[in-house]
Amino acid sequence: MNNHDDQLRELQKMASLGLLSAGIAHEIQNPLNFVINFGKMSSRLIADMQGVMGEVQDAITNGEMPSADVIDELFDLSSDIQTNISKINEHGQRAISIIQGILLLSRGKEGEKLPTDVPHILHEYLWLSFHSMRAQDKTFNVSIVEDYPDTMPSLMLVTQDLSRSVLNIANNAFYAVNLRSKSEGADYHPQMTVKASYVRGRLSIEITDNGCGMPPAVQQKLFHQTVTTKPLGQGTGLGMSITHNLVVNHLGGSISFESKEGVGTTFKIEIPCEKC
Ligand SMILES: Nc1ncnc2c1ncn2[C@@H]1O[C@H](COP(=O)(O)OP(=O)(O)OP(=O)(O)O)[C@@H](O)[C@H]1O
Ligand SMILES: [Mg+2]
Repeated sequence: MNNHDDQLRELQKMASLGLLSAGIAHEIQNPLNFVINFGKMSSRLIADMQGVMGEVQDAITNGEMPSADVIDELFDLSSDIQTNISKINEHGQRAISIIQGILLLSRGKEGEKLPTDVPHILHEYLWLSFHSMRAQDKTFNVSIVEDYPDTMPSLMLVTQDLSRSVLNIANNAFYAVNLRSKSEGADYHPQMTVKASYVRGRLSIEITDNGCGMPPAVQQKLFHQTVTTKPLGQGTGLGMSITHNLVVNHLGGSISFESKEGVGTTFKIEIPCEKC
């Protein structure tokens, strides 16, 4: 072993550490975005509430009774704030459990399989991704079609590995339809379709968007190298490599995609798993 080998080994160690911390940053960014967005929404609601309380105060000063409508409005606003705070709490907890998950993984422990209501998870994370996009761009809109079997058994899965994968795919899909609608205008109808089924011990999930699609150069690298077409600060280029790792190595499944520029993209995930 010479000095040059030592230096090379040290460089490789640094590079993989850098990648690891970029990966952690990427995964924590999603829940933190929710915390920030729900926080912003709550301050707007509190400002609205203060406006209504001003009306109540004026009424009292003028010797009048505040109307029942005004009181109802205060109750509605406070219940919206309460919902937002529980979301902030939930996503703060999620950030903590992601950090704990990564710490456990680096100690070689496996994630725990839990009974998972897959349609519920899909719906919840699509909704979250949609609202996160909507909080950044008020003009954003998309029609979402969800197609799940009427009865789907609860499946034994590491729930968080599935939800992180869905979130990464959904974030990209919403971004892609938004990009296309900015360039094509009113004739374009952004759409996203999510299907799930469970047949002979295999869970299949398909997520299709009619967004901008991917050029071949991006497709080739997508799962194995960092690649991003997003402006600095908006994408790390790690989402799909992390998702590939989660689906293949953690969930023991497979992930594939088809994409055409100007037409759209479909991601397909298959995971072998048991009913509860
Ligand atoms: N559904 C999609 N439609 C169009 N392009 C996509 C889609 N999914 C991924 N891409 C392209 O692949 C690139 C890499 O995606 P990936 O999720 O790995 O990183 P990112 O989205 O750029 O960054 P991050 O995930 O950190 O936000 C994206 O920048 C985008 O160009
Ligand atoms: Mg992404």
